[in-house]
Amino acid sequence: MIIIGHRGAMGHAPENTLEAIQIALDMGVDWIEIDVYAVENDMVVIHDDDLDRTTNGTGAVMDHTLAHLRSLDAGNGQQIPLLSEVVNLIDGRVGLNIELKGPGTAAPVIHYLDNHLPAPWRAEQILLSSFDHAELMEAKKINPKYKRAALFWTGEIDYDFVLNDLEAVGINPSLRMVTKKMVDTAHSHGLSVLVYTVNEKLDMERMRHMGVDGIFTNYPDRALDTNRHEKINYVELPAVNLPATKAFFTAAFGWSFRDFGPAYCDFSGEGLDGGFFQSDQKARADEGSALVVFYSDDLEGTQAKVVAAGGKIFREIFDFPGGRRFHFTEPSGNEFAVWGQPLSSD
Ligand code: G3P
Ligand code: MG
Repeated sequence: MIIIGHRGAMGHAPENTLEAIQIALDMGVDWIEIDVYAVENDMVVIHDDDLDRTTNGTGAVMDHTLAHLRSLDAGNGQQIPLLSEVVNLIDGRVGLNIELKGPGTAAPVIHYLDNHLPAPWRAEQILLSSFDHAELMEAKKINPKYKRAALFWTGEIDYDFVLNDLEAVGINPSLRMVTKKMVDTAHSHGLSVLVYTVNEKLDMERMRHMGVDGIFTNYPDRALDTNRHEKINYVELPAVNLPATKAFFTAAFGWSFRDFGPAYCDFSGEGLDGGFFQSDQKARADEGSALVVFYSDDLEGTQAKVVAAGGKIFREIFDFPGGRRFHFTEPSGNEFAVWGQPLSSD
């Protein structure tokens, strides 16, 4: 499974900046994804069609001069990068997925690639993608040699269009819509499947088992870690009440711990059945406030062990897209969410 740094490594630095891209490179990604708009015969690297969220400017990207856009702060005092700056920074060391985000980007991007893509870059290291499939058709018309992938966020995939009209190498579906059946169907047509945006280790592991070809992630470090380990064998615990929390987990599951940081502990010994994953992400705000998320193949059995060790269930097992889950508080007050496999998968 290839790891693609999403907007660089936007979980670690301001998105779509050279700093975020450098971090992704340092982490060892296979590819980097950026979003581009064409302004005055150049390409700027920015995600939104307005400036407000990611810069100190306001208003639509396309309403401003290149000079003005370049005068803005895109985070940590950095400029909005040009496509050429990103290309020079990466220097052909990893692949570059250029997402054609703005209107009319296919022609100037291909003009740049045809005339200015410097050595040691090779054309095969470039992937053009877009939600705007007409823009990809335009790219194919101008120069078909750069690989194309169609982005999808919902709906049915028209394989005939993707294969015969776009002549794409793959589909890039959202995490929300991807299914095993979709992956198998795409593969049966010879198409690759790159899934965005996969930030939780549990989802990374699910994608790997589903057989996807790659994932876009804001946290390449987590993904590369998941790639390395067949089973995650450590747990990340909150720093608050850490000794008591560890004592609880030892009582419930017989785990032993070996500290190597304020919030991290090696997890060793027998634990939950099967896979075990962690995340430092809070559970989604609308579904609880768990500090730590982990995973069990035996949700009912885990719930029973939690209760026997003095944990208090504050949300019983429930279904959510992609799995089942329950939430509990251990006696010293830290909240946890435990994820389980979906009861049936397609
Ligand atoms: O190309 C994958 C992903 O970047 C697509 O969504 O909105 O993050 O550009 P978005
Ligand atoms: Mg993008």
